[in-house]
Amino acid sequence: MGYRQAVQGQSVPRGDRSPGGERRGVRSGWRADAKRSRDLFAAFLAEQSDPDRFYQALATDSAAQVDSWHPLTNALVVDVGGGPGYFEDAFAGHGADYICVDADAGEMRLHGRTPSSRTVHADGTCLPFGDATFDVVYSSNVAEHVQEPWSMADEMVRVVRPGGTVVLSYTLWWGPWGGHETSPWHLLGGEFAARRYTRRYGRAPKNRFGVTLFAVHAGDGIRWARQAPEVEILGIVPRYLPGWASALMRIPALREVLCWNVMIVCRRIDSAGRRRVGR
Ligand SMILES: C[S@@+](CC[C@H](N)C(=O)[O-])C[C@H]1O[C@@H](n2cnc3c(N)ncnc32)[C@H](O)[C@@H]1O
Repeated sequence: MGYRQAVQGQSVPRGDRSPGGERRGVRSGWRADAKRSRDLFAAFLAEQSDPDRFYQALATDSAAQVDSWHPLTNALVVDVGGGPGYFEDAFAGHGADYICVDADAGEMRLHGRTPSSRTVHADGTCLPFGDATFDVVYSSNVAEHVQEPWSMADEMVRVVRPGGTVVLSYTLWWGPWGGHETSPWHLLGGEFAARRYTRRYGRAPKNRFGVTLFAVHAGDGIRWARQAPEVEILGIVPRYLPGWASALMRIPALREVLCWNVMIVCRRIDSAGRRRVGR
């Protein structure tokens, strides 16, 4: 029996609890202010030379950001495309019961990291969990690497419980980092940018346009969220930008170019249209 079959349909194991049966979360006082955006940008500039610093900063910020939408203490969280364990550390720091799902074993071992026993090797478009399993379903910078990102988004909604929260965040194709390492040449076309990168560096880019990198737009995700059944939109924000920049998300075209990354936050409502908060 394969690993996928072994976990299919099974209930998800809960993580360790402190003696009182409670996990203590860390409420962070997270704020989307200009300093936070500057710090994230500085860490991003150091990504190549100091990936640990960047991914730790990103994961720490992301967990606090999610906690501001849905308290993470004791929440059962699945992170779709969680990658190496930086996000696991950060979510656990908030008291979440965190499970990572990732399709690529190599990615989970990047930067010398070792996947924990709470990592599941599976495809985000076919999650090996029962319906309504999780309190929070999270995905960061994965949709642009998936050929059918809206199937993945539908799966995320399927596995969150009514009253639970789905947070889907991805890099915008027309933004400064849309082409990843081929940026900004992707603005002249993904294939052109890939060819140029290969000529220049003598190897193909890690993120191959049309294979592991796709042109995904904020408008696509907004349309998906508006049409998804059993979903109430809580927020659509430019993930890394200060709070005041959220207004940009209302301006088609401009949002695609200026916002870098869209974060769509939804609450699952049950099929009768009722909100149910709490278990
Ligand atoms: C750019 S990394 C993002 C890692 C982490 N979430 C973050 O924000 O830093 C993209 C991750 O998505 C994973 N991934 C790509 N396609 C996937 C799929 N179909 N299902 C699950 N994970 C996938 C990759 O293996 C990789 O770990």
